Amino acid sequence: MTTLVSLNTVCKSFGGIVVADHISIDIHGGEILGLIGPNGAGKTSLFNLISGLYPVDSGTITVAGKPLDGLPMYQRARLGVARTWQHMRLFASMTVLENILVAPRDYPGEKISQIIFRTKQINSAEQALCERAMSILHRMNLTSIAHSNVSDISFGQQKLVGLARALMNDGDCLLLDEPMAGVEGNAYETMKTIVREEAAAGRAICVVEHNVSFIKDLCNSAVFMARGCILERGSVQTLLSSKTLADLYFGT
Ligand SMILES: Nc1ncnc2c1ncn2[C@@H]1O[C@H](COP(=O)(O)OP(=O)(O)OP(=O)(O)O)[C@@H](O)[C@H]1O
Ligand SMILES: [Mg+2]
Repeated sequence: MTTLVSLNTVCKSFGGIVVADHISIDIHGGEILGLIGPNGAGKTSLFNLISGLYPVDSGTITVAGKPLDGLPMYQRARLGVARTWQHMRLFASMTVLENILVAPRDYPGEKISQIIFRTKQINSAEQALCERAMSILHRMNLTSIAHSNVSDISFGQQKLVGLARALMNDGDCLLLDEPMAGVEGNAYETMKTIVREEAAAGRAICVVEHNVSFIKDLCNSAVFMARGCILERGSVQTLLSSKTLADLYFGT
């Protein structure tokens, strides 16, 4: 199996709060790694470090063999780092389709010379992106709401739109921050199916989730984090049956 995402002794603190304490993790193509741990463990911070929202204090992160050191978020996205957000961050006044179309890596027509001299190519490239966005929505059974305003759709649908936006990146690394929080019914099943399909397509996926049955159903293995440290990595079953970890998780 190819290692697509590799963190090597990554450290990060905010004043006295250590959010990443010598974190080393490899995620292979096709793998769905669960990242679990109590509130404030540093799970979202780890995604922020990989995606470039936070710079690391020390350590290295590579995606598909390319070092991300010092790169801003947009360049990491271009290298194939895609993520969803715990608090969604959709553009509320835009439609579902427009929200998804903000994500592609190399958007055509960003240079003024292209707009003037290559209008035809830009139009056809935008058409292709639109078709790709619609095909992702089709996989999620969301074509009927493509032109709805995001603020008019259900919470579960908004979560799927967040995932659809990440999928437009078509990258090797997919980071999902609590994709199931507040999601139930059809959207829950769709989310599971899509995540499985994306892993089968060879992406390295990391899922932060408090929904234990989702982690059990989907993840090949999991990492348990607390106070910025990785305490254990193993099968989901092993981690969930550890009394020490359960005590840390539930604070008993
Ligand atoms: N930019 C920041 N500045 C200061 N402290 C921060 C910052 N980002 C995160 N923290 C702190 O780091 C700790 C870890 O936060 P983080 O959001 O990574 O936790 P989490 O594991 O995702 O928790 P949850 O399960 O509640 O989402 C928290 O104490 C948080 O307040
Ligand atoms: Mg979080």
